[in-house]
Amino acid sequence: MPQTSAGKSELLARRSEPSAGADPLKLFSTWYTLARSGGDRADAATLATYGDQGPAARMVLVKSCVHGQFRIFTNYESRKARELEAEGRAALVFHWPSLEAQVRVQGRVARLEREASDDYFASRPRGSQLSALLSPQSQPIESYAALVAQREALIDALGDREIERPAHWGGYGLTPDLIEFWCEGENRLHRRYEYQRAASGWSFRLLGP
Ligand SMILES: Cc1cc2nc3c(=O)[nH]c(=O)nc-3n(C[C@H](O)[C@H](O)[C@H](O)COP(=O)(O)O)c2cc1C
Repeated sequence: MPQTSAGKSELLARRSEPSAGADPLKLFSTWYTLARSGGDRADAATLATYGDQGPAARMVLVKSCVHGQFRIFTNYESRKARELEAEGRAALVFHWPSLEAQVRVQGRVARLEREASDDYFASRPRGSQLSALLSPQSQPIESYAALVAQREALIDALGDREIERPAHWGGYGLTPDLIEFWCEGENRLHRRYEYQRAASGWSFRLLGP
């Protein structure tokens, strides 16, 4: 949820323009915070993967960008998880209308350490923990009503016992190799700034819109 609701012109004035030598991860964090203050759901991103069935994209919540990694949480038996594990690479796209901006990220993906997934799972509301426990994400189900009934049965069975993270649920970290910042320009003459991981630090170039 947004912390405050800043005016658009004020936000645009505070959105620092990418430049050579800037740290793209720091820039991402600054823009992310601004987008939140502008009322955007800044953590929602499209995650693109590739697998046996071809390309696929879906929304995910990027819970944080820590230690240079974008972190997402999901079901390890879902389609996205199968494709992330097999391919080891993925892309994310953020769209922040309040900032008139898009950020594209490409990188390498690996499962998070067990402790990081445990900690995040423990921080979730009980209702979300229950759903993670019982939802066979991306698998065919008999009916929605059956799922709700299973949830009720699970609530009764568990009582007020603590819910441990199930082995089929956890996080991935995406380590970026490419980050592109896009700013809307007049007459569709947008500005694109691309950072690519280099031997030391990041290379920087402008791209045609
Ligand atoms: C705004 C939004 C955020 C979402 N966040 C997540 C998420 O963080 N993790 C997740 O597994 N699914 C999330 N979903 C659901 C996914 O888009 C998708 O339906 C689900 O993960 C199954 O995808 P798959 O079959 O490609 O694995 C989100 C959906 C929306 C609309």
